[in-house]
Amino acid sequence: MSESNATTEPLRVALLGCGTVGSSVARRLVEHPEEFSARVGRPLELVGVAVRDLDKPRDEAGLDRSLLTTDAEGLVTRADLVIELIGGIEPARSLILSAFEHGASVVTGNKALLGEDGPRLYEAASEAGVDLHFEAAVAGAIPLIRPMRESLAGDQVRRVMGIVNGTTNFILDKMDRTGADLADVLAEAQQLGYAEADPTADVEGHDAQAKAAILASLAFHTRVATSDVSCEGITAITSDDIRTVRRMGCVLKLLAICERVERPDGTAGVSARVHPTIVPRSHPLASVREAFNAVFVETELAGELMFYGPGAGADPTASAVLGDLVQAARHRVTGARGPGESAYAQLPVVPLGDVRTRYAIRVDVEDQPGVLARVATVFGDTGVSIESMIQGIRRSDDGLAPLTIATHEAAEGRLAETVERLRGLDEVGTVSSVLRMEGL
Ligand code: NDP
Ligand code: HSE
Repeated sequence: MSESNATTEPLRVALLGCGTVGSSVARRLVEHPEEFSARVGRPLELVGVAVRDLDKPRDEAGLDRSLLTTDAEGLVTRADLVIELIGGIEPARSLILSAFEHGASVVTGNKALLGEDGPRLYEAASEAGVDLHFEAAVAGAIPLIRPMRESLAGDQVRRVMGIVNGTTNFILDKMDRTGADLADVLAEAQQLGYAEADPTADVEGHDAQAKAAILASLAFHTRVATSDVSCEGITAITSDDIRTVRRMGCVLKLLAICERVERPDGTAGVSARVHPTIVPRSHPLASVREAFNAVFVETELAGELMFYGPGAGADPTASAVLGDLVQAARHRVTGARGPGESAYAQLPVVPLGDVRTRYAIRVDVEDQPGVLARVATVFGDTGVSIESMIQGIRRSDDGLAPLTIATHEAAEGRLAETVERLRGLDEVGTVSSVLRMEGL
């Protein structure tokens, strides 16, 4: 290529997927080519858009339909930059690996794939000498991955905690404010384009679980896979739970919590978990509404940082994807490279049973003298310290009274044993919920 061609020849962009996010990305690329050209220093040319169904209406993408193709494999071989927005494991993984083999840099929002097979993608990108960017994979529009990979690379992260799934935050917020049921609100979140193609990934917590794996890997320079992150979603949360939490002056949020912890032998380890969490209404996370996300990062030098913004949806996510695209394109122009994997620390992942937090346990008990003492004895025997006990009014139908017990910090393993023993008490009808508490 001649010198003049090197500066004017467009960089060829392949878009894989033209759904919720892909169509917003396509529209922006098509409508504002001059801005991308000016920001990159070379024009970007969209050379094709891979989809499943060529006949679907796609007016919102503003595309010349001749760009659409079902031959994604062929498309990646003729691109300098590939944007993967298909989602899921296959064919996304094979297409990304093929893009690397053909010398293209890749931008993706695919947390499911990164959480399952991130190291393989990093290695393939490194071998090919190209970039792998994934800002959209965690917390939608919020610049979080780049700060974690680059800005905080000289600091030591202690803890990352936050709301990283827009759909479940939208649902829990609506349940809290309107008393609605989970199923009704989920349909609304799907319509608004927040949910995954299979929304069970959101409500079962698996989307947040994959994001926690990505964040823990970056924060602690350690390979943490989705399967290393303990996960509990929101499907078991009832309007009774929401009411109980309200009465405590708190709110329920699905949190991802990644921590550098001290193991029993004094060495460092990593813990990563996702679960519904009781948070006081005065805590900044309590005021995160709708599909917004917020993440606290606590480090040795910087102290506490908070990242906040839209966590899902077409345009916010497209913002993150396009930012990555510009970065990858600039690197092509200048011959620079983005950061690769940093997993030198290789800290062991601590089992959930050793993780310590606080709990609120809701049980239905017989309303008789001595019952509270029996319940308290179980906690005493298992070494879990009670912070408070609040008994509600006895129900007329079954004669049982709801009892909410809040604990001081205890190990998950101890708590599990406590719950098991409570279930065995004659005076306890059911253990209706066990929720963790943070920020109190
Ligand atoms: P959608 O389900 O809306 O879009 C998926 C697109 O991929 C569709 O255009 C579909 O084609 C296409 N596709 C599916 N299978 C194939 C295939 N085998 N070959 C070619 N094309 C295929 O997903 P989203 O846009 O919501 O999400 C895309 C990615 O971005 C996912 O990884 C998701 O996790 C991530 N993400 C999504 C966010 C959001 O708010 N939605 C936020 C952050 C990340 P067709 O249109 O023909 O069906
Ligand atoms: N389904 C995801 C969410 C999309 O609701 O957060 C953003 O990653």
